[in-house]
Amino acid sequence: MLIFVVLVAGTYFYQGTSPYCQEVLALEGNIGKGRDIFQINCAVCHGATAEGNIGPSLRNIAKRKSKTALINQVVSGDTPPMPKFKPNSQEMADLLSYLEQID
Ligand code: HEC
Repeated sequence: MLIFVVLVAGTYFYQGTSPYCQEVLALEGNIGKGRDIFQINCAVCHGATAEGNIGPSLRNIAKRKSKTALINQVVSGDTPPMPKFKPNSQEMADLLSYLEQID
């Protein structure tokens, strides 16, 4: 029974329809705050202007990845060495709004 619940929850999450994802998508992000979050948590690997370093360049990332794919990338920990982050939903919405306008 427990395994079933975990599997269902996992599938749900993978499709980007988790309650967390929905919460993030319903919020309005603040680009300036998102930039700060990016500088503190992501710039070390992705570069101060997202030009890429240890991690790939995130220039035009919104053209390559959907909002839900971006959220999952940040919170899943599925692609080591990129760590799993646990921003609250407002922080994630802020970060998402920043990521979406990188060009
Ligand atoms: C320890 C280094 C590291 C940190 C810190 C890090 N990343 Fe990454 N990130 C990576 C690596 C490496 C990849 C490539 C993973 C792969 O696909 O194999 C990646 C991939 C990505 C991708 C997918 C890129 C693409 O072209 O599909 C996104 C989006 C991303 N990271 C965003 C972030 C954000 C936002 C943060 C901060 C919250 C962050 N990363 C923090 C290393 C890092």
